[in-house]
Amino acid sequence: MESWIKTRNKIIGWNYRNILKPILFKFDPEDIHDLFIKVGNLLGQTSATRYLTRVLFDYENPVLEQEILGIKFKNPVGLSAGFDKNARLTKILPAVGFGFAEAGSVTGRPCKGNEGRHLWRLPKSKSLIVYYGLTNDGAEAIARRLLEVQLQVSPKLDFEQEAKGPEVGLRAHLKSNFLHKSNFVLGISLAKTNDQKTITTEAGTADYIKAYEAFLKTDVGDYFTINISCPNTFGGEPFVEPERLDLLLSAFAKIRDEESARGLPSVKAKEVQLQVSPKLDFVSVNRPLFIKLPPDLSEEKLDAIIELVKKYKINGFVSTNLTKDRNNPLIKDKIKDPLPTDKGGLSGKIVEELATKQIEYIYKKIKDLPQTERPIIIGCGGIFTAQDAYNKIKAGASLLQLITGMIFEGPQVISEINQGLVTLLQKDGYKNISEAVGKSTCQP
Ligand SMILES: Cc1cc2nc3c(=O)[nH]c(=O)nc-3n(C[C@H](O)[C@H](O)[C@H](O)COP(=O)(O)O)c2cc1C
Repeated sequence: MESWIKTRNKIIGWNYRNILKPILFKFDPEDIHDLFIKVGNLLGQTSATRYLTRVLFDYENPVLEQEILGIKFKNPVGLSAGFDKNARLTKILPAVGFGFAEAGSVTGRPCKGNEGRHLWRLPKSKSLIVYYGLTNDGAEAIARRLLEVQLQVSPKLDFEQEAKGPEVGLRAHLKSNFLHKSNFVLGISLAKTNDQKTITTEAGTADYIKAYEAFLKTDVGDYFTINISCPNTFGGEPFVEPERLDLLLSAFAKIRDEESARGLPSVKAKEVQLQVSPKLDFVSVNRPLFIKLPPDLSEEKLDAIIELVKKYKINGFVSTNLTKDRNNPLIKDKIKDPLPTDKGGLSGKIVEELATKQIEYIYKKIKDLPQTERPIIIGCGGIFTAQDAYNKIKAGASLLQLITGMIFEGPQVISEINQGLVTLLQKDGYKNISEAVGKSTCQP
């Protein structure tokens, strides 16, 4: 089985890199992105196309399974925020081999994003310049879309079962849908609407919370990420400033604590919600909160953010988002397009080392906390191979995310990374991926 998967990946990868990619890279990157969303959405619609996709791309191995913050991950490789902005791919992503995905970033109100072009390829640097500015349909529409996907698969809700208690009713119902059957974890990335109306700290915070509440009400999303690091928004990244972040995290923590006291909406309430009644009744649970950081933070700011994460019991970091630094010596392409040099963020190989260094830095600061209080790190930036992924795990990441590696190497890269990780872990004598977390950072 292992050698068949290796051969399968080699064939698909060769075809992608030598035939499909040269064609795709002749067209505008945003048009190709939109095309992939349409194709992915279509492939997700029938069980036959989902099955075929699974045969071509999936890989499973117990060495990669982890339980983190009460959530089971079948493997550590996730789709990073920004690819599936409007949550159109949730039906197909489990079959492509991802262990989890982050939809969004989603904002309080629908958001058109920045004027003009949004995406440029830097082929020599294996990077993208991203200038979307949080284009998305808005939290309410996306939460509703995800709720419909969840209910679509098993639309017949068992209210008698529900009467026997939440474990039997709601949980059983959730487990019966395809996302939970395939152990697929869905995170939601939350941001503030990119316009002038959210410029003050109060209005910005209210917009984040509006997005958060839309998902809490509909009970979709297994975890949430507070994205404070979008480099492309009106007014910059105000919430990387510790005083403002303190207010933002305190607002999130308040809602989270209220939610956990009150709990999840019941199955019946979900159906009512579909008929657009906002009134929900609740049972009980708590979903983790992460914070997504830029790679360009000073140590002083990062220290202050780590302290705030501890103060408000935020469950972890996504490290990192795009870099804004256009003087990075790894940029090998001449940027011809007239995009102002102070706009847009860079992904891929340009951000890889910055992200790995930040992971190491954070891990050193948190590794001595008791396990129950230790934040989890999701490592992201420039992961193209199993070795890149392993470097981030050994630096301190428990989970990983990527986008650019998939665009440059092909969709089989997820399976290649997972299979390659198993080989690297076994070579170092680890029985499970969790044993390797932070191992290079902890070396004396
Ligand atoms: C096309 C594109 C859109 C992105 N949009 C978002 C976004 O909406 N929210 C976010 O938190 N990160 C966004 N990002 C950043 C990625 O999630 C990720 O942090 C970054 O690209 C580094 O990972 P990579 O090198 O594997 O692409 C985007 C990246 C790309 C390439």
